[in-house]
This record gives sequence, structure tokens and C-alpha cells, in this order.
Amino acid sequence: REEKESFPKKEVQETISSLPRARGLALSEDLCQYQGFWVGLNALVGVILAQQHFQAQPTDIILSSIPKSGTTWLKALSFAIVTRNRYDDVNSPLLTEISHECVPVFIEFSFIQNKSCRSPDLPLLCTHTSFSCLPKSVIATPGCKIVYICRDPKDTFISMWHFVNSPKSTDPFLLEEAVELFCQGLSFQGPYWDHVLEYWNASLEMPEKVLFLKYEDIKSNPVFHVKRLAEFMGYPFALEEESKGMVQKVVELCSFEKLSTLEVNKTGKYKLRDELEFENRSFFRKGAVGDWKNYLTPEMAARFDQISEQKWKASGLSF
Ligand code: A3P
Repeated sequence: REEKESFPKKEVQETISSLPRARGLALSEDLCQYQGFWVGLNALVGVILAQQHFQAQPTDIILSSIPKSGTTWLKALSFAIVTRNRYDDVNSPLLTEISHECVPVFIEFSFIQNKSCRSPDLPLLCTHTSFSCLPKSVIATPGCKIVYICRDPKDTFISMWHFVNSPKSTDPFLLEEAVELFCQGLSFQGPYWDHVLEYWNASLEMPEKVLFLKYEDIKSNPVFHVKRLAEFMGYPFALEEESKGMVQKVVELCSFEKLSTLEVNKTGKYKLRDELEFENRSFFRKGAVGDWKNYLTPEMAARFDQISEQKWKASGLSF
């Protein structure tokens, strides 16, 4: 367990005070532009402390995402895969806790809370940090792996817009304003397109280190992608497990239909940090592909698609 309390937060806060700051599509705090990405003020202290002090281990599997791209689902799937010999679909902690509680706190938040980003009996860690802002030891440590999940920017955007406009929000974002901010890159860990592109390129350069998953692909072929994820993480399903239907069981346990209807996810709360608590149900809105069609005008959708084309075309990435 890292000694969080001894970290010099004051110096970090001084660094942060000199950075560009703006209101973005985010929960009530301002965003700060740090090394090319807009990061929430609170998280940024942790991002910088992690860059300075986090030491990756060869057994680490780091789950990474932009919020609203499928983080809750990826955590559930990864947890179910790596603990499948410990729990089954009847006694899994996923039935009584939101997946955010089943895996340790985000690396960046662990540095500003008195919590560890590691659990002694689980190789899973998580982060929202962009690839280029990850602590150097993540890249330098052989064996340490990254799984990244992302999603069509239009669906991530709609999911994020709903999330930040939660019932408690006193100053909700109008759709037009939110589109403007997101397309300018002014959102949690934005620009979204750059965050995705960095991990995409890393997965092409280092396929054994970085697995790049698309939300839509898992939705359309969950069994294939759960097997792929398990294999990448070093927990492949044996033929005998496959024939017993264990892949399918993981898929069902982690499905939106199953998790969103559990009592804990209908009524429970999740505390990300002291002053930031969420209703668990806010992490389970619709779980659908293409919900953007119900909200974005054709002009708005075209704007997203133009940015995707401009930022991603050369890389071969598309949704
Ligand atoms: P929608 O708002 O489009 O419904 P994150 O976990 O990164 O915060 O992302 C939340 C999004 O993932 C929400 O999308 C949520 O409904 C969806 N989601 C949560 N759990 C899911 C699951 N088990 N399967 C599919 N989608 C899920």
C-alpha cells in the first residue's frame, strides 16, 4: 500500500494553479488542461501524484476508459473472469455490490484518498487517465497490461450529458451547449477523440500490452469478446470451461439486463471520494447502442462524424 499521506500535494496544487482552466461537460468542478487533456481539478492532483509515485507491477491489469464508455461493464466482466474459480453466478460479489466496489479505486483517486489502488487478491486496477499521461512505469514494466474500452463518441456523449445532468445538478447543460463543449474537447479527460486515438495507436504498436475494446463489438458478440478479454488478461477459458457454458455465464452475469435490475444497482450508492457520491442506478441508464439517434439533430451528428473522420481516418479507427 502506497503511503498517500506523505505525498506533497501542495507542490502539485501549485503546478495546477498555473494551468489553463475552463468549465467543461463535467460534474460541478472545473477542468484543467494538463499535457493535452482536460482533467477534473480533483482527479488531476491524483494524476500528477500517480505519474510521480505509482509503481506498476508485472501482474497488473489496468482497466482504462473515458467515463461513460463502458467502465462499469468492463469492470464487471474483468472481475467475473478473474474470479470465476472463486465465485459463481450465485455468490458473486457482483450480485451485491456495484462493479466499481468490486475492484479497487481508480489509480488517480487512490493518491488523494487513503485507499490502495490494488487489492491483494485481484490483479485489476483502473484509471481514466490518457495513455500519454499514464505513469511511465506502466509502459516500462513487462507483464503489466492495459485493457481500454471505448464507444461511438455520439453515444458516449449522450451518456455523459445525462450523467452530468443528474437530478441533483443545479445548473444543467442544454444539449447544444454540451455538444459544443464535447466537440471542443472540453469534457472529462477530453478531447475524447485524442484519448481514444492514443490507446488505439498503443494497441497497434504493443498488441501484447494494450487490448482495445469497443463497447459496440462486445454488445454484438459478447462471447467472442469475453474469451478474447480473458485470454489477453492471462485467464483463458479452458475447453472444459467452455463446454460447461462458463463464458456464457460470465456474459449473462455482467449483462445490462442482469446488473441493472439487481437491488444494489437500483437503490445503492457508490462513493467515489469523500464529497462525491453517486446513485448506482446512474451507471445503468439504457445500455444501448445508437441511443444518440433519439437526441442529436442530423447537424449535430454530422459534426461528431466530421471530427471522427478528421481525427481518426489516417489511423484506420472508426465506429
Ligand atoms: P448509457 O448512458 O448509454 O445507458 P460508464 O460505466 O463508463 O460510466 O458508462 C456508463 C454507460 O454504460 C451507460 O450507458 C450504461 O447504461 C452502460 N452500461 C453500464 N453497465 C452496462 C452493462 N453491463 N452492459 C452494457 N452497458 C452498460
